Amino acid sequence: MERIFSGVQPTGNLHLGNYLGAIRNWVKLQNEYEDCIFCVVDMHAITVWQNPSILQSNTRETAATMIAAGVDPKRNIIFNQSQVAAHAELAWIFNCIARIGWLDRMTQFKEKAGKDKERASAGLYVYPNLMAADILVYKGTHVPVGEDQKQHLELARDIASKFNHDYKRDLFPLVEPLIFGPATRVMSLKNGSSKMSKSDPSDLSRINLKDDVDTIARKIKKAKSDTDVLPSESAGLKGRPEAANLVSIYGALAELDITDVLGQYGGRGFGVFKPALTELAIAKLTPIQEELKRLMSDQTSLDCLLKSGADRARSITDPIIAEVKEIVGFIKP
Ligand code: AMP
Ligand code: TRP
Repeated sequence: MERIFSGVQPTGNLHLGNYLGAIRNWVKLQNEYEDCIFCVVDMHAITVWQNPSILQSNTRETAATMIAAGVDPKRNIIFNQSQVAAHAELAWIFNCIARIGWLDRMTQFKEKAGKDKERASAGLYVYPNLMAADILVYKGTHVPVGEDQKQHLELARDIASKFNHDYKRDLFPLVEPLIFGPATRVMSLKNGSSKMSKSDPSDLSRINLKDDVDTIARKIKKAKSDTDVLPSESAGLKGRPEAANLVSIYGALAELDITDVLGQYGGRGFGVFKPALTELAIAKLTPIQEELKRLMSDQTSLDCLLKSGADRARSITDPIIAEVKEIVGFIKP
């Protein structure tokens, strides 16, 4: 059986990269797959320090953003990770399956831990094991993510294979990444060769989904570009990472191929293209923002929705975690 699982961290500041690289694809997949589970991964968030009350509001806001962007909480399961204990239980077992050498290769750990890795939390180091558990505790088969998560998904496959091999079972599927769409890697507005990221110290580097009209306009105006006009063919974007990024953001928002965007704007300069991009971004983001505001004004309903998602999630994980415990040799209650 095919089952979609994906997650997003509740670290606030969801940006255009999260939307175009991940959440918008989930909206599409819900029409193609019957069984989709989307999780706000609050346990992953605390691998770096989180202020508790801000974590709570970010968790609600992240779930609300998914819904405002079009993920239907009735057809899909939406919940926050910490409400379903089986994620943590399976993660512990995977801590004992994954090898230190495998984790040592993870580039996200190296990036997030920075120079002083002795001071990073142990949780940050085993983060990919929890991610593998998130997916496999549902026997998830397909995982829609942005390109930056590819390495973690390869690790999830290695963990599933080693578990199946060590315990001589064919229990866990080998997950398939679903990395598709025109914006699998949205780049920073300030530097076309680094990824748009929540953790970039410069807010001008990203368009946050919550930015108001004036902020979006200002950020696009200040985005790094160059003095040339846009080419008429995509080959002409080679060596122009900032121009390529702005064109691909336009294409992703308008749901047009790069060739079509260049067909329209080839030969025009950024003085024309940037205002057009601004108008488009505002037109696409404003309805999401309005719906987000409406959802956030009713915390009780939102919490109820997360609880009901978690109840539905547990009905899937209960038998799977019981099976895993039995295979591992844990005595049942
Ligand atoms: P995170 O915010 O790190 O939890 O990421 C949530 C989802 O957004 C994941 O599927 C990421 O791969 C995706 N994502 C994050 N940043 C970008 C980006 N700059 N471009 C495309 N996808 C992204
Ligand atoms: N690590 C992912 C990110 O930072 C979030 C995540 C956690 C996830 N668990 C997952 C994504 C399971 C897909 C499947 O973007």
